[in-house]
Amino acid sequence: MKFQATSRKPETIKTEGLALFHYEGEDLAGPVKDLDKILDSKISKAVKSGVFEGKQGQILQIDTLGKASAEKILVAGLGKRDAVTLETIRRAAGISARAFRDGGVKNFVTAMALAEVKGANAGLLAQSAAEGTKLALYSFDQLKAEKQKKKIESVTVVSPDAVSEPIVAKHVRRGVTLADNACLARDLINLPSNIATPSYLANEAKKAGKELGIKVTILGPKEIEKNKMGGLMAVARGSHEPARFIIMEWMKGPKNQKPITLVGKGLTFDTGGISIKPSEKMEEMKSDMSGGAAVICAMRSIAALNIKANVVGLVPSTENMPGGSSVKPGDVATGLSGVTMEIINTDAEGRLILSDALAYAKRYNPDCVVDIATLTGACAVALGGFASGLFGTDEELVGQIKESGEATGERCWPMPLWPEYEDQIRSEVADIKNVGPRWGGAITAAAFLKKHVTGKWAHIDIAGTAYISDKPRSYIPLGGVGLGVRLFVDFVERRLGL
Ligand code: BES
Ligand code: MN
Ligand code: ZN
Repeated sequence: MKFQATSRKPETIKTEGLALFHYEGEDLAGPVKDLDKILDSKISKAVKSGVFEGKQGQILQIDTLGKASAEKILVAGLGKRDAVTLETIRRAAGISARAFRDGGVKNFVTAMALAEVKGANAGLLAQSAAEGTKLALYSFDQLKAEKQKKKIESVTVVSPDAVSEPIVAKHVRRGVTLADNACLARDLINLPSNIATPSYLANEAKKAGKELGIKVTILGPKEIEKNKMGGLMAVARGSHEPARFIIMEWMKGPKNQKPITLVGKGLTFDTGGISIKPSEKMEEMKSDMSGGAAVICAMRSIAALNIKANVVGLVPSTENMPGGSSVKPGDVATGLSGVTMEIINTDAEGRLILSDALAYAKRYNPDCVVDIATLTGACAVALGGFASGLFGTDEELVGQIKESGEATGERCWPMPLWPEYEDQIRSEVADIKNVGPRWGGAITAAAFLKKHVTGKWAHIDIAGTAYISDKPRSYIPLGGVGLGVRLFVDFVERRLGL
């Protein structure tokens, strides 16, 4: 699929499809108004009759039957003008792209970047339109004989004027890069665990390193042991798949700039281990490496966009399996941090493997460490599917991540981390235990991670947001969301003022 920019008037472009927009409760304006006249007032009639009110999520499609330069017109509702954000644009672009594709259109022009979003220029609007379009057209069919047949070949984003056309073109490319990487993360999540193994993830990281100039180091079982990563070793014991610890270094910022360190949970399949999970929906646990996919693909994006920053990505990766050599309830592991951990429940494995990555991060004397993980069902219970849980030891850091969440549509919501929760994971036989009481499970998990960090740290729990199995969204099909890629790139730039 090709993307390009133009500053031509959208209604004058010869095209199969033209996507325009309309604000709820307003009179028709701009190209929509002009086209309405040519098209026997079909649009204004639809608005008047209430068939099309211009609410968010609504679209109106009209076949022009040769009366306009475009064969098909699509008007997307943006809702009330004052409430329009970049996320509105992403969603409208996604819905339009899918409607065109399903209607057999191969090439279309989108005017979404001509909308009005407070605090955003045409560049950001164009980027959002490109993101929404690419993300919405994703389909995971690599394991099927029958592929998605209808394909969009080219998308032209209209810029408000000739002066901003280069900016619009640049941001369209940026949006495409970010969406491509989010889609690669989706592939890694959607691929089953017999294909997307820890070594597969490591190879993906290696490949990215070669392609984009990222320094990638992979530790195998021997090095993991030599490094005393006792949490990762404990979880990996039960699996025949060898564990991997993936290290990605992009040091293209100023020499004396401390790196931002990103850590992602790369659990390629979570059976629960000896504390085995119920079989219902267990197949979805192939998505337990979503945090790892986010880190690998965020690092890819940062390199592809050549962002002048020092960023390190760490992904501990293994399966969690029951077996003759599995770790057992009551066993004690010593993490790389030196903290001893009583493993009460082998299904609370994410925090065990993350603890070693968090401890490893100290070697970089980082500016801050941010981890992302499908860590607790409790977080999904607390926040549902529309916000990830956000924890941290530094208010500014947490604030920046929250802002990035709003800017990218990958919203994060702050949760507390008071000392009372830390008391709940005290163990009788070790320094800490890997589960607390039933209530507040997302918070005790975060409190467990905190025991292994020093310095500025934040934790994003994406258990409820990384994978969609109920109902597709405007630009998110069922399956892996690819969450965290756009969030992390925005965060790195925001933190460094880039
Ligand atoms: N990977 C799961 C968390 C999860 C649950 C992710 C549902 C996505 C959807 C994690 O390893 C886990 O099993 N957590 C346990 C912790 C419990 C044993 C304290 C949980 O949430 O039940
Ligand atoms: Mn688990
Ligand atoms: Zn897990």
